[in-house]
Amino acid sequence: MKINIWNSGDTLGLCNIKFNGKAALAPLAGVADRALRELSIGYGAAFTVCEMASAKGISLGDSKSAGLMSITDGERPAGIQLFGGCPDAMYEAAKKALLFNPDFIDINMGCPVPKVISSGGGAALMKNPVLASEIVKNVVRAAEGVPVTVKIRSGWDDNSKNAVSFAKTCEETGASAITVHGRTRTQMFAPPVDFDIIRQVKKAVNIPVIGNGGVANGKEAAALLETTGCDMIMVGKGAVGSPWVFAEINAYLNSGVVLPEPPVSEKMRVMLKHIEKLCEYKGDYIGMREARKHAAWYIKGIKGAARYRAKLNLIENFDELVEIAYQIAALNTVDF
Ligand SMILES: Cc1cc2nc3c(=O)[nH]c(=O)nc-3n(C[C@H](O)[C@H](O)[C@H](O)COP(=O)(O)O)c2cc1C
Repeated sequence: MKINIWNSGDTLGLCNIKFNGKAALAPLAGVADRALRELSIGYGAAFTVCEMASAKGISLGDSKSAGLMSITDGERPAGIQLFGGCPDAMYEAAKKALLFNPDFIDINMGCPVPKVISSGGGAALMKNPVLASEIVKNVVRAAEGVPVTVKIRSGWDDNSKNAVSFAKTCEETGASAITVHGRTRTQMFAPPVDFDIIRQVKKAVNIPVIGNGGVANGKEAAALLETTGCDMIMVGKGAVGSPWVFAEINAYLNSGVVLPEPPVSEKMRVMLKHIEKLCEYKGDYIGMREARKHAAWYIKGIKGAARYRAKLNLIENFDELVEIAYQIAALNTVDF
């Protein structure tokens, strides 16, 4: 079934979902969980995508995979992302994903991690367009009208940048939108991001194209949109430790305003809110352990960061984090 996507002037949507703005939060396994997704929506992300869930795990009834598909209202619009190299397992996983009422289902065809590649999923599918189209068809058939999107890379390596033909195949087999991460699998996450291949994909397909790679502020978002003509953008690492990036991007895209960086005290306030959510959703033990890496991201580039990073690595409870956040805010307070 072909899904109705509309792109009226400045606003993009999928079926009856209207996106608020043009910058979405990228799926980030181990990072963009419910807490970060909610904060991102709060700052104006157009939509969020859950951490990738294994089709094989889901079809075997694994509860951790089911947990990755759970979506609450504060994260919407939100998609569930599935990965795997087996069309039957992907069909079954998509059927089960519907139980969680996703706004769309995304298929991961860009993950470079060896464990995912060796199962035939992620970026490995870019080397096998026939299998990839089988998977798209199966997921679309399973999805009962819920839009199915595909996230790809520019190609496997510099000698096989096949994003254009691959995106066309995805479109022909029923994908409703394509995200193009402008790096090859071999590049992993290293620069440069190939804007031109995103531009070529946009020219070649009729479905919306979401450009991805290296955007961390409004000017970079505008450059990606303008250079490639893509419909929307996705922000990954740029939102880690800085979910307010969506407010910055929206202000710039909507009115050319460059918002100042939030003051350190505000950054610390958001960090504490983030960790509170982590503890609420995952329990104090896991929440505080995961807090260590998130807190380190929030203080990146702040005066005193090096000194406090070591302390953050040892925190055990929320009160210790509040004390460190207070000390960092105090150290960075401007005297009048
Ligand atoms: C820690 C981490 C986890 C990621 N997890 C996923 C994932 O689950 N699914 C996916 O499609 N991409 C995943 N990606 C890739 C990002 O979605 C994005 O495509 C990539 O980081 C490039 O965007 P950026 O330059 O804005 O970070 C991950 C990237 C990172 C750094």
